[in-house]
Amino acid sequence: MVRQITKDQMYDAVAPDDFASMIEVDRYHSRTTAFDKIISATHDHFWDPLDAKYIDFSTPFDMENEPLIPEDLVPALQTKLVDEHLKGKERVRFINEVARWILSAILHGEQGALSLSASLVHVLKDQGAQEYAANQAREEARHVTAFASYIDARWGKPLACGPTLQSLLTEMVNAPEVYKKIVGMQMLVEGLAMGAFATFFKEAKDPVLRHLMQLTMTDEAFHHKFGKIWADRTVPHLSEEEHNIVEDWAAECFQTLLFNLVNPEQMKDLYADFGLDWEEVMAAFLEAATDDERRARMEESTDIFRVLTKTLLNAGIITDRTRDIYATYVNMDELKAEGSSMVGDAIAEEGIEFLQKVNFGKDMGEYSLDNAASAAE
Ligand SMILES: [Fe+2]
Ligand SMILES: [Fe+2]
Repeated sequence: MVRQITKDQMYDAVAPDDFASMIEVDRYHSRTTAFDKIISATHDHFWDPLDAKYIDFSTPFDMENEPLIPEDLVPALQTKLVDEHLKGKERVRFINEVARWILSAILHGEQGALSLSASLVHVLKDQGAQEYAANQAREEARHVTAFASYIDARWGKPLACGPTLQSLLTEMVNAPEVYKKIVGMQMLVEGLAMGAFATFFKEAKDPVLRHLMQLTMTDEAFHHKFGKIWADRTVPHLSEEEHNIVEDWAAECFQTLLFNLVNPEQMKDLYADFGLDWEEVMAAFLEAATDDERRARMEESTDIFRVLTKTLLNAGIITDRTRDIYATYVNMDELKAEGSSMVGDAIAEEGIEFLQKVNFGKDMGEYSLDNAASAAE
């Protein structure tokens, strides 16, 4: 028997193979309106990765001589070993292969989000929630196409999914429990994505990559809000035992995502390609952690975990039980003082203003995500 933790009727859920519940006649007349605004907002931020008027993947970039991302986004280059080993064009090639690895992980994450939102349609019982999930699946599908197109244009092929990320995505997609799907995907993976996209948008050297980040964020900002609405309507009503289940799952996902990003074992083929042994790189990371200056630079490269940590903190999911797991990488007091505004939202709003111009042929003025999603809150 699957244990669903349902505190609000609009997140009521059944087992994935329980189609009989979907055609109960009494079910059809109850439909939440909570997601209607998010669903209709999809027309404001429509974009098509196959149409060059939105994004042109044929725009060239000098891959041999130009790094796609700055060095401070590559944690390994903050270690003495890798820093001294790679010079000149090999260094550029390394940075660009790390970028390929990160973008490939994002592509696999987008496929995970597509498969997961499709799976939500099978378990969520409310039609409004189902329509939200189906709409998200459609948006994730264009992200898969967009990231695959970008990787294709720059490298020809993505890299394989790291084993840790693969098992986490598999667990979420196949989980029958709605809380696992929403906390894991909508809050953590989407939160990590918003942090990573915001960083890449600000710092990437390739204009096509920056534009890709912004267009994707116009959709992700809404996906992230869906997770927040679930948390607002669920977390305050959890019993202590249920809260522990949700909090532990969040901590487990966080540790897995962090491990995937910084553990050299996950990218050992990449290191081998540059004549580096992943175990030596691992030792170099540990050494760098004892050096204040190198550690400070490494902390900057894990800055992308801020958004997701903040989401969990604001949602009341993190308590003293698991606080230390996050505090090692993110300054929790600083986060608390920042309030609830999200770094990615302003970038997404600007992206939607661009899309409205393309979609409607005229300037529609300032866009507000909060207005667009307000009915739900
Ligand atoms: Fe996505
Ligand atoms: Fe998403």
